[in-house]
This record gives sequence, C-alpha cells and structure tokens, in this order.
Amino acid sequence: MTVNGLLGRSVLTEGPRSNRRSLISLIVGLVVGFCLAEMFIMSSPSRPEYTPYAGHQHGDANDAHNSHDMLGEEGPEADVGSHQHAFENNSLSTKLYNEARVLCWIMTNPNNHKAKARHVKRTWGRRCNKLVFMSSQKDEELGSIALPVQEGRNHLWAKTKEAFKYIHAHYLDEADWFYKADDDTYAVMENMRYMLYPYSPESPIYFGCKFKPYVKQGYMSGGAGYVLSKEAVRRFVEKAIPNKKLCKQDGTGAEDAEIGKCLENVGVTAGDSRDQHARGRFFPFVPEHHLIPSHVNSDFWYWKYIYYKTDEGLDCCSDTAISFHYVTPNQMYVLDYLIYHLRPYGIINAPEPLPERLKVGETLPPPVEPVDPVEPERTEIIST
Ligand SMILES: *[C@@H]1O[C@H](CO)[C@@H](O)[C@H](O)[C@H]1NC(C)=O
Repeated sequence: MTVNGLLGRSVLTEGPRSNRRSLISLIVGLVVGFCLAEMFIMSSPSRPEYTPYAGHQHGDANDAHNSHDMLGEEGPEADVGSHQHAFENNSLSTKLYNEARVLCWIMTNPNNHKAKARHVKRTWGRRCNKLVFMSSQKDEELGSIALPVQEGRNHLWAKTKEAFKYIHAHYLDEADWFYKADDDTYAVMENMRYMLYPYSPESPIYFGCKFKPYVKQGYMSGGAGYVLSKEAVRRFVEKAIPNKKLCKQDGTGAEDAEIGKCLENVGVTAGDSRDQHARGRFFPFVPEHHLIPSHVNSDFWYWKYIYYKTDEGLDCCSDTAISFHYVTPNQMYVLDYLIYHLRPYGIINAPEPLPERLKVGETLPPPVEPVDPVEPERTEIIST
C-alpha cells in the first residue's frame, strides 16, 4: 500500500516534461516504500495472536474505533437506552409538541427494516407525534405499512404518492404537519416544531432544503426530508395526484422534483426554512460535509442546486437546525447523545420567545442576508 501510495503521488505531481525527475522520485518512492513495508512486515509477527484491547491502539489501521471503520456498521442490536435529566425544563417543547403536531413518515423497504428503519424508531422517530414506516411489506415489530408498490429507486415516486394517499385516508386528523424522511435522515423534531409554530397548517405551504432547478419556485431535496402543511397534503392528494395535467401519473421519476411540480401546480408555496440569521435548517448531507469547507468543492452539484446563498463553515447551519441526511445507524445514536444529553456544564440557554402566529396564507418575511463582516481595524502595538 505504501509503495503504491508513493508511486501514485510522484507520477501525479510531476508533469510529462520532467521524466528524469519522476524516474528519480519513482526509485526513491520504491526504496522508501520497500523499507516501510519491510518494517511493517518485521513488526507484525511480534504481535500476539490475540490481545483483548488490540483494537484500542491509536493509529492502528485495523483499529475498529477509528470512525471510518465504523461507517459501515449496522447499528446496535439492542436499544442503547435513555435516561432522564432531573433539572431539565421542557415545558416549552411540550407546548410545541401539542400545538404543532408532526406526523413523520419514513420511506423504507423490506431490506432496511432491521438495518436502518428500526434505528430511526429508537432515536429521533420517538419524538414525532406519530411515526409511520412506508414499505412494501408489513412488519409487526417495526409497524410498517405495505403499500401497493414495487421496490427500487425507480418506484419511489409511486411510493410517495401512495404514502400520502394512505396518510390522507387514515391520519389526516392526527397531525397538523406531515414530514417525509428517508431511513437515513436524522431530524430534530423540537426545532422543526419551532420553525413551523408561526405558520397555520391551513396555509398551503411546505418546507425543506430548497433546490433551484426543474420547478419554477424550487423544490425540496428528498434526502433532507420535507414537511407539508395539512392543507398542502389535501391539495396534493385530492387535486394534484388524480389530475394528469397537474401531476406525473406513472410511478417513475425523481420523487422530490415530481412532488415539487405537483405542489406548485396546486398553489402550494415552497417555504423558506432559514432562521433569522439566514442560516439553513434542512441539510442533504451529514453535518461534517456542511461545516468543513474543504469537503465540498465549487464544482460540486450542490452549489448549483441550492436555492439560497449558503455559507461554508459554521455559518452554514442554524443553531436550530432540523435535519441531516446520509446518517448511518450508529451516528443516529451519537447525534441523539450529543443533542439531547451532552451539555457543557454551566451554560444555560434561555429560549428565544415564541413568535406570533401568522394568519392563514401569511408567511414570515425572508431573513436579512448578513453583510460580510468588515475587517476590524488593527490597533498598533507600541513597543517601548
Ligand atoms: C420552565 O420554563 C418556563 C418557560 O419556558 C417557565 O415559565 C417555568 O416557570 C419553568 N419551570 C421551572 C420549574 O423552572
């Protein structure tokens, strides 16, 4: 591996003009790589056959506690449990739980019931007012619904329509808002209710991570999930789905762009989910990819798709962020711990007061885009 690494590097960095130099670096690379490989081979047999804590050695490529090696993990077999916090005051979030009720429906499939969906159920899904798993097979343990659809990427649009039809028929009175998420989406329900609180569920509106192409007013990325008002669900199911002029009738196509077109055609507004500092709340990737600037280069499709200007680094993301996508089962438990348990001792946040409620059809004014900070004038240090 080391030999290849050095080889690849020298060939890549030197242009075709400097053949001599690349030949020299190739030889140097081979020699260094060979020596390193020798050292590695020599040191390996000295390891005992079995050491109970071998996996904990730092810097070991086989360290199971290296986070990269855990990316493919299936998630814990048993529930990791929970505990109460005696001094926690959740009266405000309880109020929102009752006044901005959200039904969550999770797009899943039989292969993912155990591998992914059950981890949603044990973590953030518990905080939805109602949680429904939409699949093509019934699963008593998970509580999934068997929709009359085929599985596969090509049938997601059919599944989305069937899911909303099912919800409209069975659960429309059980919530004010209806959130669709994938089985690898993680959502902070308290923050979703805080964002939705001012809006009337009778307003035809929906929220999510807004993308620019395909639909005039934009549409919401499927992975970050999107939340429809009760009125939006009614219009989608009663008016849009049955009408071939308003909505794609067959089951193929990109589910998120297709629902975006249907909703636009029945007058449902693509809402602005940013906070008052113009920071986003719904995200199509894991937090790391939004926070760390180098992760996404400027050619990345995301920068062309994203509807609102978005900053990199800490300004990417609202302190009341709502959702992230591509979250592995293990990471769902990690996020649950970081968001709901770990606290820096002695820092207590007083919540911002709740906003006034809006009338039906009203929306909040867009947030004021922050101006780039002016470099502070440097004060001269006078040495005496
Ligand atoms: C909890 O917070 C609410 C405001 O959100 C406040 O009215 C109430 O008095 C607090 N309860 C306790 C026990 O501190």
